[in-house]
Amino acid sequence: MMSNELPFWQGSPPMALLDILEFPDPRLRTRAVPITIFDAALSRLIDDMFETMYAAPGIGLAASQVDVHRQLIVMDCSNDRSDPLVFINPEILSRENVGVMEEGCLSVPGIFDEVERAQRVRVRAKDRDGKAFECELDGIRAVCLQHEMDHLDGKLFVDYLSTLKRDRIRKKLEKERRDRPAKPDSAEVSAGAALGR
Ligand code: NI
Repeated sequence: MMSNELPFWQGSPPMALLDILEFPDPRLRTRAVPITIFDAALSRLIDDMFETMYAAPGIGLAASQVDVHRQLIVMDCSNDRSDPLVFINPEILSRENVGVMEEGCLSVPGIFDEVERAQRVRVRAKDRDGKAFECELDGIRAVCLQHEMDHLDGKLFVDYLSTLKRDRIRKKLEKERRDRPAKPDSAEVSAGAALGR
């Protein structure tokens, strides 16, 4: 049978790495709004967020971190990219087993500290097609989801630390950014543009 696939140059453009906002960028404090339109632009953003997260490398990324203030999270807590999860407009239905785990964040590079959170959650969300689902997550997946949901509320894991620690982290990151060579403009893609904004 003949393939009806388009030649590669007529298909989708290649995926793009998105620019990740870093603490203390005030845009990370924006509250995300629910997603109501499930279209090709959303699907493209999800694919770009996965590529950006895997390249970083990270195990979770909220749309807020790429300056798109919509309620969208991608996650993969496996070692081999075998557990990609998408949560749109997520709500936590129940929390259990509070414990402490060390967290890091792509928006707070190189910083790790302990945060107390539920180690088991039940969540309701929509998938990339807008279909509602519920699932239970535990361990690192439960912690990761809560960390990413905080981003959607404009909150960062360093907010759980003391003011003294947070100030020290802010100064360290500001210094590192000043010392870092500037990236060429062509390597940066605006995620907002992907959603036609
Ligand atoms: Ni984070």
